[in-house]
Amino acid sequence: AEIIILPTAADAGALVADEIVSLVKARRDAVLGLATGSTPVPVYDALRSRVDGIDVSRVRGFALDEYVGIDPAHPESYRSVITRQVVEPLGLDPALIRTPDGALATIAHAGEDYERAIAAAGGIDLQILGIGTSGHIGFNEPGSSFASRTRVKTLLAQTRADNARFFDSIDEVPMHCITQGLGTILDARHLFLLAFGEAKAQAVAGAVEGPVTSSLPGSAIQLHPHVTVVVDEAAASQLA
Ligand code: F6R
Repeated sequence: AEIIILPTAADAGALVADEIVSLVKARRDAVLGLATGSTPVPVYDALRSRVDGIDVSRVRGFALDEYVGIDPAHPESYRSVITRQVVEPLGLDPALIRTPDGALATIAHAGEDYERAIAAAGGIDLQILGIGTSGHIGFNEPGSSFASRTRVKTLLAQTRADNARFFDSIDEVPMHCITQGLGTILDARHLFLLAFGEAKAQAVAGAVEGPVTSSLPGSAIQLHPHVTVVVDEAAASQLA
């Protein structure tokens, strides 16, 4: 992987936003892989000042994951987060931006449906990834198969605790999610793994330099031919 260490998350956001703008200029119907959580926010913020005068009407997108059983209208459903942070501020067509469907009634085939939609779009051009303190990418917790496709997973207690900040209490964090698999993520043509802050240093070192192991799902990026890791000094602090 190419490792880029920058002073601030804002610098990292600007770098990835510039990549996205070049991609969209070259290919108006580019397919973006969107992450949620805190990490990608600087990318979306930086994009806001860059999309003026750029035709984004045909840009397509696929979120990495969604909570299972959450009301899509809940402000912390990833559908809502993507709408608020990406679709509305950038003026994208909401019909072209998908999140996995976490509705219980259709969950049995939601993973397959999502895989079909990604394939029909011709695959993901540029995938934004954060990494969890557990080493997960998407919500592929330790033990996830490198061949996995979009499916339902149980969130680790650690991940629910990490995400409790978005909810009124930890009890409100859903127990399950539907996430692109590691195999799905590895099919994207260019991966950008972002991480900021000391709390991510160990996961970053493991993902970039550790053994390739399902115990640290982020290490799957070592199997991908085109990865750019963009981190701040604190997140880079355990790299050799
Ligand atoms: C979010 C996702 C997760 C997060 C990870 C880090 O769509 O798939 O892998 O990227 O949990 O979360 P933050 O960025 O909030 O630290």
